[in-house]
Amino acid sequence: MVAAVPTPQALAQAVELLQAGEVVGMPTETVYGLAGNAASPAAVARIFALKGRPLNHPVIVHVADAEAAARWVQEVTPRMQKLMARFWPGPLTLIMPRAAQVSDAITGGQATVGLRCPSHPVALSLLRAFAQAGGSGAVAAPSANRFGRVSPTRASHVVDEFGSAVPLVLDGGSCEVGIESTILDLSRDAPVLLRPGAILPDDLAACLGEEVLDPARVVVGQPAPRVSGALAAHYAPRTPLQLVPAAELASVLEQARAQGERVAVWAPAQANLPAAAVRRDAPEDAAEYARELYATLRELDTAQCQRILIQEPPQGVAWHGIHDRLGRAAVGSGPAALS
Ligand code: TXA
Ligand code: MG
Repeated sequence: MVAAVPTPQALAQAVELLQAGEVVGMPTETVYGLAGNAASPAAVARIFALKGRPLNHPVIVHVADAEAAARWVQEVTPRMQKLMARFWPGPLTLIMPRAAQVSDAITGGQATVGLRCPSHPVALSLLRAFAQAGGSGAVAAPSANRFGRVSPTRASHVVDEFGSAVPLVLDGGSCEVGIESTILDLSRDAPVLLRPGAILPDDLAACLGEEVLDPARVVVGQPAPRVSGALAAHYAPRTPLQLVPAAELASVLEQARAQGERVAVWAPAQANLPAAAVRRDAPEDAAEYARELYATLRELDTAQCQRILIQEPPQGVAWHGIHDRLGRAAVGSGPAALS
């Protein structure tokens, strides 16, 4: 299977597949999604089966606009209203108490539903065309990778991951953001950040005019929702991956070389390091780094190395989403990783 250029014909075919309960590879500005009709529990079950994802993990419902989102929630609250107006379409997922008709297949049996309006023009065209064709206009779409593995940011990654098991992947180019959406839980007393992403807690707090809590600070007593991105091991390559502080990288590499190990390195271009079998330059800008992150992990994972060494990126709030993904990738990496 090859990815399709998103012509009107390809979009029409994607809509037909969605209506038939099939799944489609959909580009978004964050990562590619594996999309199925959110109103069809059978289609959602197909997504879970393809991904090999445990059934109690909820999936995000993608909609074309705020009006479509309203059908999936108990009530559009003032907080939800403000955030949709400011950040949609865009990389922000909102967790809300769900409307009565939302299936357990979507929510993993939880009382909440995750909603997002992606800004990628191909995703928006697909959602609109699906609504116009009389479909639900909403697609459930987890990242288009097998459970626990590295997320896809190119159409070719989705093809590599699923081959002919996914009948159509719309090619929307390289994802502009590169890491998954920021997830904000609005189902509790206070807004809680569940997954860091390109939209930062300060941006959310400024829009809401109130504090956004870090999960580490959530009061015990309220059950924590299940977020698969919150598993310690996730986003992981099969080659063991190690994050190394800048000051130690040269000596770690030297040791590896002394042992005859074949090593891949991702570090800033100016880092003065001993030679490695494979070396890629790490961007110094956080947005650029995020954009290249998953493609680089995938590339280094196929370089037949015994280890991937990544220089720890800078600190600072703009890097939180990147540290989050890299940390989990390191924990989950290796041949026995969640495959
Ligand atoms: O950027 C993104 O969000 C991408 C693109 C495709 O839109 N999607 C994505 O989906 O990252 P996925 O399934 O790989 O991750 C969705 C995360 C999971 O960690 C899931 O547990 C959480 O969202 N989630 C979904 N619904 C939830 C809910 N009702 N309560 C808590 N967490 C929820
Ligand atoms: Mg994912």
